[in-house]
Amino acid sequence: MPVNHVGQDQLKKKIEDLKQAKQAIIFAHNYQPAEIQDIADVVGDSLELSRLAAQVKARMIIFAGVYFMAETAKILAPDKKVILPEPEAGCPLADMANRPDLCEMKKKFPGRKVISYVNTTAGVKAETDICCTSANAVKLVSCLPDEEIIFVPDRNLASYVRLKTGKRLIAWNGYCPVHEEIRVTHLLEAKTSHPEAEIWAHPECRPEVLEKADRILSTGQMMKEARLTAAREIIVATETGLLHRLSQENPGKKFYPARAEAICQEMKKISPEKVYRALLEEKTEVVVDEEVAAKARAAINRMIEFV
Ligand code: 13P
Ligand code: SF4
Repeated sequence: MPVNHVGQDQLKKKIEDLKQAKQAIIFAHNYQPAEIQDIADVVGDSLELSRLAAQVKARMIIFAGVYFMAETAKILAPDKKVILPEPEAGCPLADMANRPDLCEMKKKFPGRKVISYVNTTAGVKAETDICCTSANAVKLVSCLPDEEIIFVPDRNLASYVRLKTGKRLIAWNGYCPVHEEIRVTHLLEAKTSHPEAEIWAHPECRPEVLEKADRILSTGQMMKEARLTAAREIIVATETGLLHRLSQENPGKKFYPARAEAICQEMKKISPEKVYRALLEEKTEVVVDEEVAAKARAAINRMIEFV
C-alpha cells in the first residue's frame, strides 16, 4: 500500500525518536533512494562511511547500503552493532569473487601482491595485501614497487588502472552489471540532448565509455569536483542515486544521467519502512568471524595508512 505524505512524515518522526532512544545513527550510501538519503545522518561513499563508523559515538549503526559495505563498517568498528536493514541487499560485483578461488589464483601466480577493491567479501579481503577504492586505485598501484599485481574483482577498474600506471595487472573477470550496461550510445544520445555538458564517468564503466569521458571519477570525487568545476552541465555515467545529492548540493548546476536505467536494484531494496523495523528490532546484525575480520582489517588499514 503506498504511504501518503502524512504517513511518511509520521514514519520519519518515529525513526527519529527511535534513533535517539537507541543511540543509533543512520548511514546511507550515495546510491540509496532519495527518501533514504533524506533521513540519513550521513551520506557518503563506501569507504567514507566505513571509516566514519569507527569514529562515531553511536552504539548502533543502521547501514543503508549493500552487504559488503555494512561488513566493512563492522570490520573497522568491531565494538559497534552494525545493522543492515535488508539482509538480502548484496553486490553482484562483490559476489563474483570468493576466498577459495582467490587462493587458487594466488597459487597460480606466487609472490604477486593482491589488491582488492572494497567491493569484496570479508573472505576475499582476508586474502588481500592491500584494499583499494575507485578513488585511490591508480595512486596505490603506481606507488607499489611491484610490476605485476593480482587485481580483484573489477575488470573495468583494472583496465583503467593498467592504462594509467603501465603495470601488468592480473585482473579478476568481475564487473558491476549496472555500470557495464552504460554504453557509448547512451553517452552520444545524452550529448545530443545536452551538447554543452561535460561527461563524467565512474571507473567501473567499460573502457570504451571511459575513453569518451571528459573526467573519470569515483562517487566521492564526483561530489567534491561538482562543487569546484566551472562546468554548468554534467552527464553522469554512474548509478543514478548520486544525482540526488549532486543536484541538492549544487543547485546552480544541472546533472543528467548517462543512462536513466542505471539503477542498482540491490541498493534500492532499502526503504524507510525497513529502516524503521531495523531500528525497532535491531536486525539484521552483521557478524564477521574474528579471524577473517582481523586479516581483512589489516588489508583495509594498509590502504588507509597509504593514502
Ligand atoms: P563507492 O566506493 O564510490 O562508494 O562505490 C561503490 C560502488 O558500489 C560503486 O558501484
Ligand atoms: Fe555493486 Fe554495482 Fe550495485 Fe555498486 S552499483 S553496489 S558495484 S552492483
